[in-house]
Amino acid sequence: MKVGVLSGGGDAPGINAVVRAVVRKGIQNYGYEMVGIRDGWHGLLSNDFLPLDLRSVSGILPRGGSILGTSRTNPFKTEEGPKTILKNAKKAGIGAVVAIGGDDTLGVALKMTDLGLKCVGVPKTIDNDLSGTDYTFGFNTAVTIAADALDKLHTTAETHHRVMILEVMGRYTGWIALGAGLAGGADVILIPEKPFSISEICECIKSRQKRSRNFSLIVVAEGAKPKGGEEVVYSESVDEFGHIRLGGVGYYLGKEIERCMHIETRVVVLGHLQRGGSPTAFDRILATQFGIGAIDLVHQGKFGYMVGIKGNKIVSVPLKNVIGKRKAVDMELYKIASVFFG
Ligand code: F6P
Repeated sequence: MKVGVLSGGGDAPGINAVVRAVVRKGIQNYGYEMVGIRDGWHGLLSNDFLPLDLRSVSGILPRGGSILGTSRTNPFKTEEGPKTILKNAKKAGIGAVVAIGGDDTLGVALKMTDLGLKCVGVPKTIDNDLSGTDYTFGFNTAVTIAADALDKLHTTAETHHRVMILEVMGRYTGWIALGAGLAGGADVILIPEKPFSISEICECIKSRQKRSRNFSLIVVAEGAKPKGGEEVVYSESVDEFGHIRLGGVGYYLGKEIERCMHIETRVVVLGHLQRGGSPTAFDRILATQFGIGAIDLVHQGKFGYMVGIKGNKIVSVPLKNVIGKRKAVDMELYKIASVFFG
């Protein structure tokens, strides 16, 4: 059988480790022919493929990005999109597809499986907000990078007696903010799941000042919003799945804190530094487990399923139980982090 592999949505460190594992086991153990589909679902709409053999996946384990490229192409945007995909997959002799992606890419995989294209999913997003799995790969790397940034901001904040705000990714959930904030000892962590109040943040800063801590570190997820308010939007344009571009909540906070506290405040937006570069060892291992799990699902004929991790076991989960069911942060963990606020 010929098996196609694609990566869709924002990249996440570890995609190449998944591709390597899928291809290695697919060829060595199952005798499949493997083919890469370029730029997510776009490659199937435009017949853009690359053959994948053992040599083409050699050396890619530690590499960031995706050798397959990615896109946020949604084939269901047009009526003919899904039919074109079915036609092109048939023409290329692709009997099954391993789709590496988040809610959008895997949502397409589920719908395409219902239409007859045999797909399995691999959960990928640095945001860690997919249901059906304790962790997505890429998340650990993003948290590690953000925690490292916080360590660096810590020394300069302390030296200058400033408030430092680190804005991290996390459109709908605050997993990265919470993880980095816990690891980096943040004094305030703001997440989309819990709208914030400027006066409460200022109280935290004041309580630190009373203990002669004349600096504060705040981590904010890009999707965090003030109580009764809206997210800060960077650009009104939406992608093919209807997502708006967020960004700038850190600057909003910085101005508000300077206004009410009269303390110098600086803002760092970490942006795509969280997504670029090499995966951590944790993500390389998880991505490898996921890749092996995914090609095993293909071999077992478990289409419409995604691999996941529960505890320390690799599991398979029906995509229909995952799509559209966002995994919010663990509020118990947030409670632990909040012991250190102020
Ligand atoms: O979907 C993951 C994510 O990291 C979000 O947190 C963020 O809003 C988005 O990607 C930004 O992606 P891009 O700028 O690449 O479209």
